[in-house]
Amino acid sequence: MCGIAGYVGSRVVRDILIAQLKKMEYRGYDSAGLAVVGGGGIHAVKVVGHVSALEQESINQWLPGNCGIGHTRWATNGRPSTKNAHPHTTSKVAVVHNGIIENSDELKVFLESNGYSFEGETDTEAVAKLLDFYYDGDPMIALNKVAKRLKGSFALGILFFDATDAIYALKKGGPLIIGLCAGENFLSSDINAVLEYTTRYYVLEDDEIAIIKKDHVEVFDAQGVQLSKTENVADWKADLIDKQGFSHFMRKEIFEQPQVVTNIILENIRDGIPDFEAAGVSDEYLKRFKRICIVGCGTARYAGLVGKNWIEHFARLPVDVVMASEFRYQNPVLFADTLVVLISQSGETADTLAAARLVKDRGISSVGIVNVKGSNICREVEHVIFTQAGVEVAVASTKAYIAQLSVLFLLSLKLGFVNGQLAQDRIHSLCNQFIDLPEILRQVLREKEAEIQKLAQACVEYESIFFLGRGLDYLLALEGALKLKEVSYVNAQAYAAGELKHGPISLITDRLLVIALVTQEAVKEKIINNLREVTARCGKVRLLFKAGMQIPADLIEQSLQLPALEDFLMPFLVAETLQLLAYYSACAVNANVDKPRNLAKSVTVE
Ligand code: M6R
Repeated sequence: MCGIAGYVGSRVVRDILIAQLKKMEYRGYDSAGLAVVGGGGIHAVKVVGHVSALEQESINQWLPGNCGIGHTRWATNGRPSTKNAHPHTTSKVAVVHNGIIENSDELKVFLESNGYSFEGETDTEAVAKLLDFYYDGDPMIALNKVAKRLKGSFALGILFFDATDAIYALKKGGPLIIGLCAGENFLSSDINAVLEYTTRYYVLEDDEIAIIKKDHVEVFDAQGVQLSKTENVADWKADLIDKQGFSHFMRKEIFEQPQVVTNIILENIRDGIPDFEAAGVSDEYLKRFKRICIVGCGTARYAGLVGKNWIEHFARLPVDVVMASEFRYQNPVLFADTLVVLISQSGETADTLAAARLVKDRGISSVGIVNVKGSNICREVEHVIFTQAGVEVAVASTKAYIAQLSVLFLLSLKLGFVNGQLAQDRIHSLCNQFIDLPEILRQVLREKEAEIQKLAQACVEYESIFFLGRGLDYLLALEGALKLKEVSYVNAQAYAAGELKHGPISLITDRLLVIALVTQEAVKEKIINNLREVTARCGKVRLLFKAGMQIPADLIEQSLQLPALEDFLMPFLVAETLQLLAYYSACAVNANVDKPRNLAKSVTVE
């Protein structure tokens, strides 16, 4: 989603801004721009399309000065166009903005009545013009006045035409950090975009205003009181963003999954049982909780649903799984003995972040299961268990999902253990099977890819696909359908197989393909009966089943067999298979696999 860059120092400003923006490209965007202040004014360049186009467009432009801001925009208010791209400029200011200004219509009316007119359709244009209106030579006065009038969420990077040595930043909502370095400083919405230059940084909090100059940084609160900020040091390296010979990031990331599970094993299993002490999640801490509430969005929530099944089974604790976008507005009932688990790959998803803040404000305990170090959610939760997946570039989440499942699986065993529900030998046996998982994930990749590719060719011939399952298979069906529609644009829905005859069965025709997940022994006969209801109505069925299961001969044709693991571990193999199915379906229709239309990697607005 949108990215903010800023640089003040003695290097070529444009080059540093372009380099920072490139680091944020994977998040998804549709236009880009930059502005530099110097030589008597503000000079801006904006393009629709990629940062490489911005690089080309700006190469021969006169961009004097030591101070600049840049932006990648993912359209919310107003379609992608150069007018709507950031920075938004007037003769006095340039503004880049992440977030949404909820009262922009009202501000536009006010500004129009004061002689301003608007060229584009964005909310940010109102911010630029409001700053222009209030600016009389003192940036701080203008910023304070503007901050009081803005409603919504905003992280802003600002240049003033006559303040050629400073970037100003203002924040309420989205993430903003200030990278600190001798003789130069950076502004960014993502610490990882500046790690090439520095590991030292300040985190800008809501309602703070920063003045960033090359030799020093000052931060003020809403009352204008100067703050003494704590310096953070990033103790990780920026990941290499490279396809390493793979045709797409999505396939590369699927193939990284065995290693990701190994990373999680190495980090979180000690003496044959799960151990989260390194994350501060001790046995004593976990023993306090009598109920769990899992919060996330999209794939992260679907991982949470699988986690609920495992926790309820192994630990016998009640678990709620709630969409972060609903959780934050439903005045959730949370007890002192509830542990809220917030799951997020990016650690920046606006709704999940708001949920984390709500939980913190209520004084309720929280653990984040997060992939991106240094992200905002990490700062709002009591403890963080990192998913160790490395940077995930493809918009469709694959390895981060498997990593979330892995952490949830181990957490469920741990909760079962500390609550006396799982005996030591059982937990050892489950952990040992989990330790063998990376090799089996590799085996699926090695032996099943060609078959999955063939099934994908068949999928894209159909108008719609139903994914059916029962128990854990139903929860995997939800993620499988999301993945397929996300990257291949094939209409895909997931149903619990038992629900079929309560409505969706009316859609069964020979134009619809049913992909049935059959890996759970306890409900195998039930789902086979449900599939008979489909074939009796000319519906086409393909099965994904566990080796060794007795499947009727007519259903086994053109079906895919997965290695047999204990039922609780089958989700990992099903997930990997469905990810490849989505991947090859997207390839079959020549879709933009890594950057599907309309989607962004990190959803930092509501
Ligand atoms: O970064 P997060 O895990 O918080 O993101 C949540 C969802 O936006 C994300 O999982 C989304 O559903 C993916 N594109 C799915 O592949």
